[in-house]
This record gives sequence, structure tokens and C-alpha cells, in this order.
Amino acid sequence: MRKTASPKTYRVESFGCQMNVYDGERMAEMFDHQGITPAAEGEDADLVVLNTCHIREKASEKVYSRIGRLTKGRQNPPLIAVAGCVAQAEGDEIMARSDAVSMVVGPQAYHRLPAMLERAVDGHRTTDTDMPADAKFAALPSRRKSGPSAFLTIQEGCDKFCTYCVVPYTRGAEISRPYSALVDEAKKLVEIGAKEITLLGQNVSAWTGEDAKGRAIGMAGLIRALAEIQELVRIRYMTSHPADMDDALIEAHGDIAKLMPFLHLPVQAGNDRVLKAMNRSHTAESYLKLLERFRTARPDLALSGDFIVGFPGETDAEFEDTLKIVDAVGYAQAYSFKYSPRPGTPAAAMEDQVAPEVMDERLQRLQARLGRDQLAFNAASVGKICEVLVERQGKYPGQLLGKSPWLQSVHFTGPKAGGAAIGDLATVELVEPMGSSLGGRLV
Ligand code: SAH
Ligand code: SF4
Ligand code: F3S
Repeated sequence: MRKTASPKTYRVESFGCQMNVYDGERMAEMFDHQGITPAAEGEDADLVVLNTCHIREKASEKVYSRIGRLTKGRQNPPLIAVAGCVAQAEGDEIMARSDAVSMVVGPQAYHRLPAMLERAVDGHRTTDTDMPADAKFAALPSRRKSGPSAFLTIQEGCDKFCTYCVVPYTRGAEISRPYSALVDEAKKLVEIGAKEITLLGQNVSAWTGEDAKGRAIGMAGLIRALAEIQELVRIRYMTSHPADMDDALIEAHGDIAKLMPFLHLPVQAGNDRVLKAMNRSHTAESYLKLLERFRTARPDLALSGDFIVGFPGETDAEFEDTLKIVDAVGYAQAYSFKYSPRPGTPAAAMEDQVAPEVMDERLQRLQARLGRDQLAFNAASVGKICEVLVERQGKYPGQLLGKSPWLQSVHFTGPKAGGAAIGDLATVELVEPMGSSLGGRLV
């Protein structure tokens, strides 16, 4: 590698889950802190971070093709850092295969990017995929940027080892960030403009800590503490595993007004044999019972989930059970995926991998049901008057976009959108279902 000039502009490209988005924001803040500025839209950056995801199909191919596009035909190609879960899983291969990459950094080591960058400018390549638990948060500069809706990572890693999943390998063991650091970060986010905070974790409700008085608390206790921050008006969290949902959290949904009526609780499949082979600790029945308890505490709770079709050995009849659980729950929204064998996971070595055409057909059928239910949920919301947190301008002049309490996208227009502005909680009547979103009218 040659020496290069210090970069003046940067761009962070994040793929994957919200936790990667959060990490990407924190990396951007680090560069801002060093006096590097974000590249304008459409402009080449001197430094590009590819913040990658390894959860499904073709993760690394996407990285190589992006690197190709960033460097092809450019006299002064950018400095490239590969970060995120592909970096953690395949860092050495990336370094060996692509000269254009000068930094490879895992999700637990990105606070060391500034030092790696200095070395890169001097012509040295560095890989850092260490997993020092929690060290990065203390080393990062304090928060500087926030829109009305902010992410806050409270928990990282996963000890659940579902047999299909790479996360326990790419993100490491479950750790909880300390209570005081979280309260401080939340207050800071509110100070710089956040009205809503979504608590994040690969298993967010596995969070545990000690409050200011040294009492052991879980995520419900943390939510209660954050609800005390006056200018914070909405709290959400994701993603949860059914195994970590406790009574205190169910109760919190019943009595904390700032905790939004939305729960993302992936079930993955509806058949108990498949669930067992996935190493999920719930059955279809225990999952449904759990949801019932949440709905009793908060009757208008909107539910969301994740599904995998075509897990090794899944038969047609077993897949039908997934459709049954969908019918039984009535999800407001959901994500569904074809099973993808991930290198190094137990399921990848299982026999009876399901044929791609079978997976395609199952996915289509599942998505048709989920789509139907989302439409029905949105149609049933018509006529409701609710608060919409305005997040940005819409496509048309005067149009504003935001989220309902149930996490539906709502767009509305008014005379100058009625004077409503980004960051406001606008009172809106939901008037028209439009596919995955809703049209509204200012009240
Ligand atoms: N921690 C969360 C979600 C993690 S990954 C949970 O336990 O629910 C997000 C989603 O990606 C998963 O819920 C699962 O539906 C999907 N997923 C993970 N690994 C996958 C794989 N190998 N193939 C297909 N989908 C997968
Ligand atoms: Fe992956 Fe399962 Fe952990 Fe979720 S709980 S991150 S699906 S191993
Ligand atoms: Fe992807 Fe890593 Fe998140 S694999 S889903 S970026 S934890």
C-alpha cells in the first residue's frame, strides 16, 4: 500500500440490522470529531466504511462488488475500511483477496478506527477483530447527531445459538451496557433532538443491570428510568427473544404511556419439531400464550415477527404450521426469509437441505398471508386519531412523514402541513390505507 493524503471526507455505508445502523452513526461521529466531514450526496468520499451484515445470502460477494465499484477507474481511490459482521467473520480472507482494503474492523473494535486510519494513511494495512466486551462504548466520543427518532444500543451479542444463525459468532457473547452509561447517553440524545429512543440489542430484553441505588433490574426497570426523562416522549425496543420476556416487561406495557404499543417478537416457525431443530426454546403454544399475556396488558399492541422458511428438513406439513401461527397471531407487520446456510453454523451441516424452488414457493405463500394481515391491520386503523412523530419531509411539497404509535408509516399534508415540523408530535387522523403505509390528515 502507498502512503496517501489524510482523508477530508468520509462516507459510512451500513447494511443489516439497526445495531449496524447505530454502529455506523457512532463511526460517523468519530470521524466528525477528527475533523473529517461527510461527503456530499453523489460525491466521491476519500474514506469509505462498508459496515457489513453476514446474516443471509451473498454477504461477502456484495462487499467485493461494492469495493470494485468504489475503485474501478479512479485515479485516487478512497481508503476503504470493511467493518461489521462480514469483517468479523471473514476479515482475513478480505485482506488476502482485496488490496484495495486497508482496514478490517469487527463490531466490537471500531473505536480503534482513528488509529487504524493513521496507519492506513502511512501505507499500512490493519485487521482488528478483537472482542473486548463493552470497551468500545467508553472509548467513543459523546453523541453529536440525532434525528427525532434515535437508536441506543443497550445490549450486544447473543448466547442463544439458534442453529441457523451467525450472530453469536460475529457479535460474541451477551453483554449489557451499564445503567448509568445508558441513562447518560439517552439524556444526551434528547438534548440533541431525540424525541423517541429505540433500545437495541440482538436480544435486547436480556439486558440486566443495577440502578442508581445498586438494585438489580431488567429492561423493564431501565425503561421506567428512561421514561422519567421529560422531553423523551416515546420508547421502543428491539429485538426480543421469547425466552427473555418477563412479567415486569409485560406490566411495563400496561402502565408506561411512553412505551409504544408495538412488539417485535420473532417466532421463526410454527412447527415444534422445526423449532427444536432450530434450538429455539419456545413452542408454538408457549409463544401464543406469551403474546396473549402481552395483549391482555396492552390490548392495542401491534405485533411483528421474523420467519424462516425452508429450514433443513422442513416438510410441507410443517410449513403449514407456520401459516397457522400467522393466522392465529394476525401480525401488523413481519419479516420473512428463505433459510440460508451460514458457514460454520450447525444447520449448514444438516442433511435434507430444502430445494430452492420449494423455498421460493413457501416464501411466496407466507408473504401473501403476511401482506394480507398488514393490509388488514392498516385498514382497521382508519378513523383512529393518534400522534405521529414527524421524522422527515415527504416526496411532495408540504408532505410530512412519520410513525404512528404502532410503527406504521404515516404521510400527511396540510396547509404547510398545518405548521407541523420535523420532530413534532402531530395529531393526525388516519384516513387511507396505502399498502404498507397510511395516509393521514392533520387534526
Ligand atoms: N436476535 C433476533 C434476530 C436476529 S437476525 C432474534 O433472535 O429473533 C434477524 C432475523 O434474520 C432472524 O430473526 C431470522 O429470522 C433471520 N435469519 C437469521 N439467520 C438466518 C439464516 N441463516 N437464514 C435465513 N434467515 C435468517
Ligand atoms: Fe440469532 Fe437466535 Fe441469537 Fe437471534 S437469538 S441473534 S436468531 S442466535
Ligand atoms: Fe447482520 Fe450482524 Fe446485524 S450479521 S443482522 S449486522 S448482527
